[in-house]
Amino acid sequence: MRITTSLIKADIGGVAGHVVVHPKLEELARKKLQEAKETGLIIDFYVYHAGDDLQLFMTHTRGENNPEIHKLAWDIFVEATEKISKPLKLYGAGQDLLKEAFSGNVRGMGPGVAEMEFEERKSEPVLVFSADKTEPGAWNFILYKVYADPFNTAGLVIDPSMHAGFIFEVYDVYEHKGVKISTPEETYDLLALIGTTGRYIVKRVYRKSDGEIAAVSSATRLNLIAGRYVGKDDPVLIVRAQHGFPATGEVLEAFAFPHLVAGWMRGSHTGPLMPVPLKDAKCTRFDGPPRVVGLGFSLHDGHLEGPVDLFDDPAFDETRKQAQIIADYMRRHGPFMPHRLGPEEMEYTTLPVVLEKLKNRFVPVEAE
Ligand code: 13P
Ligand code: 13P
Ligand code: MG
Ligand code: MG
Ligand code: MG
Ligand code: MG
Ligand code: MG
Repeated sequence: MRITTSLIKADIGGVAGHVVVHPKLEELARKKLQEAKETGLIIDFYVYHAGDDLQLFMTHTRGENNPEIHKLAWDIFVEATEKISKPLKLYGAGQDLLKEAFSGNVRGMGPGVAEMEFEERKSEPVLVFSADKTEPGAWNFILYKVYADPFNTAGLVIDPSMHAGFIFEVYDVYEHKGVKISTPEETYDLLALIGTTGRYIVKRVYRKSDGEIAAVSSATRLNLIAGRYVGKDDPVLIVRAQHGFPATGEVLEAFAFPHLVAGWMRGSHTGPLMPVPLKDAKCTRFDGPPRVVGLGFSLHDGHLEGPVDLFDDPAFDETRKQAQIIADYMRRHGPFMPHRLGPEEMEYTTLPVVLEKLKNRFVPVEAE
């Protein structure tokens, strides 16, 4: 049976700032998706949040970019904004809804989308990851570790069906172009691109031996759509695990190192990505530190068995502790780079307004 998994998310308002989604927003989303399940539009769903981003995970048989599925998500975001976020004066009500009228697809309208269609295997473990206070480039490091680094993923060496490697589809989000890079033989080319996390984003990963889809991310850059700072993109990721794909534990292993990502306060700072259980999926200190939740499901004919709250585990306590130490260290730099992001990323914030004021105070000086 061919199943499509669609993870569509948006920040439509946070309680007490950019901290967390209001439970009433989740309630409304659950009610609407339950109705869609009863009419047969979707097979199953799971609603959750990562910080102030409302996450709609859906399964169905309608393929990627299906207008009805996208409209379902869009309408939920709009209705929840109008009925809940606005009257309750939640912070940034409708923040990620950048366009007025729905035109068949939520891509380019603000919400983040990750979708993949596949033939459901004998056992189909699917993992979803949602991060808050960061951007899609945050997955680059993770996806490299999982699909191209044998020091992370033992299966790249041991499992014959993974041994040929994986193909990375990389988007240049400034030029709206994509390129497929084959690993391990083009590993250095891949790294030359995806080390630039603000521009080159891993959109999909395919298994080389048979072209099967392994992972898909959301590659939205809100600032590029809106042309101004409208918060961070707070990305999502869907991953298929086991039996010819990296084992669940190999995928999770990549999160054990709290690598530095762009985002955090005002989307303008570098900080560690901290894996947390759902109960800690809220952003506090300096609106962060950036965090990621991971949920594991077993699919059966598109039904979602689960979730397992993957980071709700002492195995990640040391990672979280290390993340706090890094958070302290980075914070002590205050407004200085590289804690504060560089000028090309700050272009979309309110910093240029401040700099503009100083512009005519500059006078010529001798060349140094
Ligand atoms: P599978 O091929 O059954 O996924 O084996 C990998 C595994 O579970 C090792 O942890
Ligand atoms: P969000 O993108 O999560 O709304 O974050 C915006 C922000 O500016 C946090 O300080
Ligand atoms: Mg917000
Ligand atoms: Mg957010
Ligand atoms: Mg955001
Ligand atoms: Mg097994
Ligand atoms: Mg076993």
